[in-house]
Amino acid sequence: MQHLVDTNNFSDSQIAQLLHDAKSFKTQRPPQLLHDKLLITLFFEASTRTRSSFEVAAKRLGASVVHLDPSRSSAKKGESLEDTFANLCAMEPDGVIIRHEKNETPQLLADMQTTPVINAGAGNYAHPTQALLDLFTMVEHFDGDVKGKTIAIVGDIVSSRVASSGIRLMTRIGMNVLLVAPEQFMPESDLPQYKNLEDVMDKVDVIMSLRAQLERHETELFEDYDDYAKQYCITSERMRDRDILVLHPGPVMRNIDISDEMLEDPRCKVLTQVKNGVFMRMAILKLLLLDA
Ligand code: CP
Repeated sequence: MQHLVDTNNFSDSQIAQLLHDAKSFKTQRPPQLLHDKLLITLFFEASTRTRSSFEVAAKRLGASVVHLDPSRSSAKKGESLEDTFANLCAMEPDGVIIRHEKNETPQLLADMQTTPVINAGAGNYAHPTQALLDLFTMVEHFDGDVKGKTIAIVGDIVSSRVASSGIRLMTRIGMNVLLVAPEQFMPESDLPQYKNLEDVMDKVDVIMSLRAQLERHETELFEDYDDYAKQYCITSERMRDRDILVLHPGPVMRNIDISDEMLEDPRCKVLTQVKNGVFMRMAILKLLLLDA
């Protein structure tokens, strides 16, 4: 039984297979490969993109999806996470897709070895399907050639599970990763670190902007979001005519993470990421439910 807790659960050849399958699902209407499969989604945190993307991906491949809303489940009566999961598994789903605030939850459930567990975002530790769809978007943009490309991850890196999974995957495939953030947003890392966005603008092929999560930090770093935006917002003035791909996992805080104008700019691929997320999640479901 194979799980997806983080991208290190996949071998290099499996990642190559995912990129191949995602591309093929994007170019031709997929067959109903998972018509006899049933998935359960269990999201303990809010989601717009990931949950609906998984549901669309599953349904495009013919699978059925049942969603359990934890806020209206017996978790509210004190049932533990493990018991909730065990009861769902007793209904014999072909996989459970989970988002949870704790870093260790997906691994804990995977270790029960009852059904494939797919991590849809856990704490600030991992968001592997986002990392894989971001890789797919970069591979597509650079026509397959991402090794040696340089990406700057900008913003609240220490709070970001997208950054955690992205850094592990991108360094593994040979990309150069630079971190750009104020000190309090910077994780412990051996990667090159910058406080000023201007210092990396001539070094990078890709910028991944992250949502400023000022509310997660105890110390007040900035007077307000405008103060943060002055230093870290991706604007047309900062970009000039540079050939840089701009990514963001969403939700984007307009004019704080990325300006309105840049969101309309063809260099910004935020909605392409969302579109590609469906194809990558189709590839992941095929791999875990059919091939593995
Ligand atoms: N990128 C992402 O995880 O978005 P959601 O929180 O809306 O799922």
